[in-house]
Amino acid sequence: MLPPPVYDIRKSYEENYQHGPFFTGVIPKPIQTGRKIDFLGHTVSSRVGIPAGPLLNSRWISFYAKMGFDILTYKTVRSHFHPSYPNPNCMYVPFHKSFDLEDLRHPLIGTMSYNPSSLSDITITNSFGMPSQLPEIWMEDVGKAIDSLSDGQILVLSLVGTQRDDRDLVQDFVYTANLGKETGARILEVNFSCPNVKGKEGQLYQNPDASGEVLKKIRAAIGTAVRLVMKIGFIDHPEQIDRLVQATSPYLDAISAINTVTGKIINPEGQPALPGPGREKSGLCGGGIKPLSIKTIEALKASVDRIAPDLRVIGVGGFNAVEDYPDFREAGADFVMSATGAMWDPFLAYHVKQRNFAQDNVTSDAIV
Ligand SMILES: Cc1cc2nc3c(=O)[nH]c(=O)nc-3n(C[C@H](O)[C@H](O)[C@H](O)COP(=O)(O)O)c2cc1C
Repeated sequence: MLPPPVYDIRKSYEENYQHGPFFTGVIPKPIQTGRKIDFLGHTVSSRVGIPAGPLLNSRWISFYAKMGFDILTYKTVRSHFHPSYPNPNCMYVPFHKSFDLEDLRHPLIGTMSYNPSSLSDITITNSFGMPSQLPEIWMEDVGKAIDSLSDGQILVLSLVGTQRDDRDLVQDFVYTANLGKETGARILEVNFSCPNVKGKEGQLYQNPDASGEVLKKIRAAIGTAVRLVMKIGFIDHPEQIDRLVQATSPYLDAISAINTVTGKIINPEGQPALPGPGREKSGLCGGGIKPLSIKTIEALKASVDRIAPDLRVIGVGGFNAVEDYPDFREAGADFVMSATGAMWDPFLAYHVKQRNFAQDNVTSDAIV
C-alpha cells in the first residue's frame, strides 16, 4: 500500500492551508545536479516542478523546494477573497486504463475509499473553484515563499481574473497581474483553463483571439522583465493549437499544458459525487489523463517550433511516477511538472534526479 498523500484529501482546503503539508518522513539530503538550466531567464538545477495546485502557501512551497522540486508554482490567486467549494475537494476515480475521449462522454465513479496499488494507478478528480485568500495575505506570503527557495530554484505565481462589479474580466486579469508583479515574483502564469468554475475565466484558452487580447494587455502592464506563462487545457485538434499559438505567442514566454480534463463524476448510487451546485462536472488529473496531455504537448511543441521557436513548453498531466518523466521530455516538454503525483510522492523530484544525475552512465540532456 502507498503512504497517505501529503495533501490530505480527507481534510478541507482550509485545513490543508492552515496545517499542511502532512509529511512524517525524513527530508533527504539534496542531490546536487551540477546543472544550470535556463528557465525563462532564471537558472534552475533541474527541469522538474509542481504546477498550480497542491502548493497552497509558503509552507507548501518551502517543503516541496526542500524535497528537490526546482520550479514551484503558487496555487492560483485572485484579486479578492474567494472561498473554496466544501470538502471533499479531491476524490479517487478508480480506472484501470487511461482515458480516451469516448470514456469521458460517460459518467465516472468517484470514491473516497480506494487503495491505489501504485503511483500510476492514481487518478483523481479535484474541485476547489479556485479559492483565493485576500490579496494582502497572499502578496505577503508569496514574498515569504520566494525567500524560502535555494539557489537553482524559482517560484511561478499563478493567477486568474474574475468578472467584478467595478472591473470586467480583462481589467481584473491586468489588475491581478500587477498585484502579482508587486510581490517580487519574476514569473507569472495566467490560468486560462479551469473546468471547475462557472465564469468565463474558466475556458479562455478555447478562444485564441480573446486569449491574445488579454495577454497583450497584461504584457503591456507588467513589461518584459517579468516572464509570462499561459496555462491551457486539453486540445484535440492541432489546427486549434496553431491558432492559439499564433494569437498568443507575441506576449508569452511559455505555455503550460495541460490543466485537468472535464468529467462527470457520480457516486455508486448514480448521484453527483461532489456535493453542492455547479459540481456535477469536475477536473480529472493524475495517471488517467497522461495520453491526453502527451497528445496536447506533442502538438503544442510542433506548433511552437513552427510559429514561435523561442517559446518554452511546460508539460503537465499524469506525471505520477519517475518512469513517466522521459515520456514528457520526448513529447517535447522543456520542463515537466507533477501535481497529483507530487501529492502522493513528495520524493518524485528526488527520484528523477537520482536516476538522471546520480548515475555516471546517464548523460543525455535530451532526457534530463
Ligand atoms: C489539488 C489540485 C489543485 C489544483 N489547482 C489548480 C489551480 O489552482 N490552478 C491551476 O491552473 N491548476 C490547478 N490544478 C491543475 C494542475 O495544475 C494540473 O494541470 C493537473 O492536475 C494535471 O496534472 P497532474 O496530472 O500532475 O495532476 C490543480 C490540481 C490539483 C491536483
